Amino acid sequence: MIDFNSVEGKVAVVTGASRGIGEAIAKCYAENGMKVVCAARSEEKGNAVVKDIKDKGGDAIFIQTDCSSPEQIEKLINQAVRHYGRLDGVVSNAGIGMGGTPVHEYETEDYENIFDLNSKGVFAGMKYGAEAILKTKSKGGFLINVASIAGLLPQRGQALYTATKFGVVGMTRAAALDYAEHGITVNAICPGYTMTSMFEGIPEQAMQFFVKDCPCGRLGNPEECAWLALFLASDMARYITGAAIPVDGAVSAGHMNVITWKHPEILE
Ligand SMILES: NC(=O)c1ccc[n+]([C@@H]2O[C@H](COP(=O)([O-])OP(=O)(O)OC[C@H]3O[C@@H](n4cnc5c(N)ncnc54)[C@H](O)[C@@H]3O)[C@@H](O)[C@H]2O)c1
Repeated sequence: MIDFNSVEGKVAVVTGASRGIGEAIAKCYAENGMKVVCAARSEEKGNAVVKDIKDKGGDAIFIQTDCSSPEQIEKLINQAVRHYGRLDGVVSNAGIGMGGTPVHEYETEDYENIFDLNSKGVFAGMKYGAEAILKTKSKGGFLINVASIAGLLPQRGQALYTATKFGVVGMTRAAALDYAEHGITVNAICPGYTMTSMFEGIPEQAMQFFVKDCPCGRLGNPEECAWLALFLASDMARYITGAAIPVDGAVSAGHMNVITWKHPEILE
């Protein structure tokens, strides 16, 4: 049955909720009656998102969290359960980009920096999230990890980012097998080029490259990832688990090639 109301009252933690895709997911969840625990480092920005949600009649709290620390993720999940009395889902979205350089130009410390957040943070979100979802006996539990098209198709200049995102897709699919019989779905959202702070201030020439590289001819909006996150949280998606779903305007579908339409007049 088509029923988005099935998300109503579900409690979800969203990491990296202070801006970009995480903010869009938190707001979309709240607009649809979910209770949202917003996690990020910036108290000011996190509280602003929560205020916005509450002003529109939604229910949310902010918990300051450095998501590269498994201890802080554990605390975050515990506080979420203490506040709302249950947990239904965790969206591990916080992540950093790092790239545009060939492998030899990375610093060795870059490895820890990006893996701590993009990989260890996601692992901790699933570990403590699954435990709390099981303990609080959610009827429609879900774990969603925000990976990337870089988790499906390696990106030039992005060796470390690509490695973390391939890891996220792998962990997601393996964890789906762990929890399939226990009623928790585990999926990855793989955004393509999405208009967030990751694209702020980039040179015009680079922007033109990204627009041209996308078969749809435009960048995505954070809300387009949020709508998928809402569907995956709903009871309509209970049979979707272990999937890594691109939201990318076909960037990861394959290579573009030269094509000639026999009847271009169909577009007139
Ligand atoms: N924007 C894109 O084009 C794109 C493409 C593919 C994948 N992604 C992925 O989407 C996710 C969200 O990215 P975005 O584009 O919204 O970026 P963004 O920079 O706008 O948002 C990232 C969020 O993560 C938070 N964050 C960063 N480090 C943190 C930490 N240590 N602890 C807690 N929170 C932290 C930031 O405060 C922010 O809220 C990331 O995992 C990113 O890799 C984005």
